[in-house]
Amino acid sequence: MIRPFQGMVPKLGARVFVADNALVLGDVELGDDSSVWFNCVVRGDVNWIRIGARTNIQDMCCIHVTNGRWPTVIGDEVSLAHNVMLHGCTLERGVLVGMSSTIMDGAVVGEGCLVAAGSLLREGFQAPPHTLVAGWPAEVKKDLGEAQKALVAGIWSRYVRYKEAYFADGWPLAEAPTVPEPRPGFREGHPFP
Ligand SMILES: CC(C)(COP(=O)(O)OP(=O)(O)OC[C@H]1O[C@@H](n2cnc3c(N)ncnc32)[C@H](O)[C@@H]1OP(=O)(O)O)[C@@H](O)C(=O)NCCC(=O)NCCS
Repeated sequence: MIRPFQGMVPKLGARVFVADNALVLGDVELGDDSSVWFNCVVRGDVNWIRIGARTNIQDMCCIHVTNGRWPTVIGDEVSLAHNVMLHGCTLERGVLVGMSSTIMDGAVVGEGCLVAAGSLLREGFQAPPHTLVAGWPAEVKKDLGEAQKALVAGIWSRYVRYKEAYFADGWPLAEAPTVPEPRPGFREGHPFP
């Protein structure tokens, strides 16, 4: 389900998959070849959400923002495993967030990081690039080894293939709705509610 909010319409790249029971709403951009799986919520109603190319948002993820203060920004080739909660944070290129993790306002996860399953990254947490962060609350554990780097690099590319398999099975390409009078997003001056 892809819906406008106050005239702001999600902007979708080429060959994007959005499961029919996921919600993508408002000031959201999704890059080429990205995928949003079953029962996700990506709610750009009180700030903006940017999601890069070839990024996968797996089942039951929830992505939101803080009104006027914290957008959520996700780079290219990022994987959010099942049931991840992101709120007002930034994930740089090539991050893997393990299942059931929560990342809070102002946190920044550096390029290529692995966030272990079930972690909590508190407000403003900074994860240096290519590190393992883990725990509730999370701490930086170590630089990633080769096996962990391979795990991180393997998942996003698999998900580009998976969504193509769904298209081959007849699932539709994601398409943004048309609205009579589209309005600019928050970064371009839309008033915060
Ligand atoms: C992180 C992970 C890969 C394990 O990596 P690892 O290299 O074997 O980690 P290690 O066992 O060497 O642990 C390193 C440290 O992190 C901690 N740690 C590892 N996984 C953890 C987790 N999930 N939660 C909390 N702490 C964790 C260990 O206790 C250890 O801490 P210490 O150094 O203080 O003793 C694994 O736990 C994980 O989370 N995988 C992701 C699963 C997933 O969601 N996949 C997506 C499928 S689509």
